[in-house]
Amino acid sequence: MSTIDEVKSRIDIIDLVSETVQLRHSGKNYTGFCPFHSNTRTPAFVVFPESGTWRCFGQCNEGGDIFKFLMKRENFDFSEALHFLAERAGVQLKPPSPEEKVTEEENDNLRILLEEAVAYYRHQLLNTPAGKQALQYLHEKRGLNDETMEAFGIGYAPNSWDASLNYFSQKGYSPDELFAAGLVTEREPGKILHAEGLKHDEIYDRFRHRIIIPIRDVRGRMAGFGARIMNPEDVPKFLNSPQTAVFDKSRLLYGLDKAKNAIRLKDQAVIVEGYLDVIVLHQAGFSNTVSPMGTALTEQQLNLLKRYSRKFILALDSDAAGDKATLRGLQIARQSMDREQDPVFDARGLIGYESRLKADIRVTTLPMGMDPDEVVKRDPKEWEEIIKNARLIVIHVMETLVANRDITDPKIKNDIALQVMPLISDIPSPIERDTYRQRLARLLQVDESALVQTSGSTSRTRSSQRRSQTGDTIRIASPEAVKTLGGHSLEAHCLGVLVRRPDFLYQVDRLMQQDQLPRLSEADFQDTAHQSIFSVLKESINQDIAEPVNFMFNNLSLPMMELADGLLERTNQLNPQNERVLEDLMRGLLTLRQRALRQEIEYQRYQTLEAQERGDYKAVQLQQAAAHLAEIKRRLDKAISRYSNRATTTRSM
Ligand code: CTP
Ligand code: MN
Repeated sequence: MSTIDEVKSRIDIIDLVSETVQLRHSGKNYTGFCPFHSNTRTPAFVVFPESGTWRCFGQCNEGGDIFKFLMKRENFDFSEALHFLAERAGVQLKPPSPEEKVTEEENDNLRILLEEAVAYYRHQLLNTPAGKQALQYLHEKRGLNDETMEAFGIGYAPNSWDASLNYFSQKGYSPDELFAAGLVTEREPGKILHAEGLKHDEIYDRFRHRIIIPIRDVRGRMAGFGARIMNPEDVPKFLNSPQTAVFDKSRLLYGLDKAKNAIRLKDQAVIVEGYLDVIVLHQAGFSNTVSPMGTALTEQQLNLLKRYSRKFILALDSDAAGDKATLRGLQIARQSMDREQDPVFDARGLIGYESRLKADIRVTTLPMGMDPDEVVKRDPKEWEEIIKNARLIVIHVMETLVANRDITDPKIKNDIALQVMPLISDIPSPIERDTYRQRLARLLQVDESALVQTSGSTSRTRSSQRRSQTGDTIRIASPEAVKTLGGHSLEAHCLGVLVRRPDFLYQVDRLMQQDQLPRLSEADFQDTAHQSIFSVLKESINQDIAEPVNFMFNNLSLPMMELADGLLERTNQLNPQNERVLEDLMRGLLTLRQRALRQEIEYQRYQTLEAQERGDYKAVQLQQAAAHLAEIKRRLDKAISRYSNRATTTRSM
């Protein structure tokens, strides 16, 4: 039997399809509503268990086997579908190479060591005086019961520099092995770079006087540890295993091994921000909960989750940082699903994905200053309520944008409308669109017609934007490229060039001033993440240090660093020595300004008209402002046409 047939024979098509389609018995076969097209009133989707195939007799008129089904459902290509199903069926696709065998064996040994470490830390928790103290903290302060602690393998690392080192050395583990497992730290970091052969006195225990939380992969195999302080003065609050052969924070989700069944059953995954939150929620019966490990959600993490449910609820803190994290989370969600390389927040793409692949991402915020574990301990019903109140992305985005801002300021209203309207116009259902628009109008206290105006100007550019986002990144900003790059990609491109050549910033400012235009500022970027990268970049230059890029990277948070790295990546084929690069950059930046200005002018015009109709005294002021905008527009247009002409000449030479 071929591998493909083997996989087919082991996977029950009814099981597979039932994960996402509610099937009903009908004679020999099963029927349901087609998951690949919407608005169906008849169950036109039929699964034939005998032949292991399916077909939609409705709109799609498509069908196939389990592989085809998964390719459609997950957007997989054949090989991905095969890999996915083979793993599930427990079929080896090809015999592992000798090297792979060695690696797998080494990894298994690491896992065995880590498993022994779980037992060691557990013993410390349960059977030593210091451990008793930790146990008391976990019982009394955190409300964990013994059963939960056992299930999650919670332990305690003694307050010693070498207790675990000595223990595992006596068991025959070498310093190299302990180091590879992340259980010890080098006294002089960096040695491991050149060779193996660490000595006993060159290493010490990584975790000291901390509560130990084992982290397992989706299959329940040991991967690493998270360790929380006991002494409030200690830093950092959490110390995780370092990256090892089996521990990669970006590919693991804490609690998923225990949560996956519940996620499948409830058809919903709740994503929180802390280890203890996961544990306490599981204890309270909300076992469809997982969390990342102190980093933003990554692409791989969501891909892992997607196997069990495509309904995600992000339950994050309600402080400002939490809101940022929420947006960050959304950003990553989008990346993962679209398989877009562009690691930039684009709620618009996210919504496109939601409609195309029927993923559902909601966001919920916690009561101010509370963590999920505190909420659920106070009242489990309250947690249920919070989950139930999760908001759709658009609503969340609009409410987050409005929160704590002075929405009597027309500029702020305009800014928010410009960010939210494109999202709304991407939603396929006219009823939903209408509802959102009404909601936004109410939130901003403007007339709905003003919003329609705002969306009109952006939707025209939408198709070109889509194209450039799904296609390969355009790396060199030829005039054509600048034209076809959507606003967002263009913005990323320009910022990427600046990150690569921070010194261009001086020249850009000089050129702008020559054209009587304001210098480049955060306001030139619409994406919040771009804005912060730009401001750090600017600061780096002002520090006047030899290596502004290094300074910049040192001053960015990890997710921002990833983003900046992606920006650099997209310009890596650019030859910054080429003098056209600066011209192209100028043209790009001016184009961005032109676009923003166009929208602002349109909005202003509308507001003026409306104010005039109402006989509002503000009409005069607005008219003056409009005249000012028109003047800026004139200068911009002039500058941009000059750069475009110049480019044409260069090209024709
Ligand atoms: N985290 C981390 N490293 C840090 C701080 C936090 O890895 N230095 C991760 C941990 O996964 C932690 C999560 O971020 O669980 C949330 O951090 P925080 O809100 O500070 O802690 P809580 O989980 O709420 O812990 P506690 O309730 O015990 O204060
Ligand atoms: Mn907490």
